[in-house]
Amino acid sequence: MARNAEHNSRTVQVPKEALDQPPLEIRTLGDQVLRQSARRISKVDEAVRDLARDMLRSMYSSSGIGLAAPQVGVHKQLLVIDLDPENPATPPMVLINPEIRSFGSGIDTYEEGCLSIPGVYLNVVRPAVVDVSYRDELGRPQRIKADGLLSRCIQHEMDHLNGVLFVDRVSDELSLNEGLSQKGYKRSDVHSIR
Ligand code: NI
Repeated sequence: MARNAEHNSRTVQVPKEALDQPPLEIRTLGDQVLRQSARRISKVDEAVRDLARDMLRSMYSSSGIGLAAPQVGVHKQLLVIDLDPENPATPPMVLINPEIRSFGSGIDTYEEGCLSIPGVYLNVVRPAVVDVSYRDELGRPQRIKADGLLSRCIQHEMDHLNGVLFVDRVSDELSLNEGLSQKGYKRSDVHSIR
């Protein structure tokens, strides 16, 4: 797994704790806000960094490892990721205007979950390796070749920027229906990509 410290951000680091009242409400499956596309961020300023901090506070409060701005109702191309939420010293990653440059040749199957679909965990097939360019929280251009959980997380969060949810990519219809109904979600809120 690519864990390069230079891609992490102390500038937006916040305490990794569950707040009684997280600053941003995370929208859930069925909310149409999750289906809209996010716009590019033209200027990386303090308002963008404040949004990233509030997204991190809400993410840590829900024990997540990644969150995309559309999940909190903000249609901007901004992701926060922290694969080490138990370690207070590890800074998070902030990805602004991320673009996939290429995929590796291999594919992986991994059980994904999403803070917008609490309680549902299902297998999704995706490319194993991804090469992504983005701006960091200071507006600096960055590029990362990610594999393992980081690759998985970046692809999942980037889908949110296009209004796509991981359940849209689940190919096992039986497991999908079972997982959704157990948690009271509607099949009609899934827009399958097959
Ligand atoms: Ni998600």
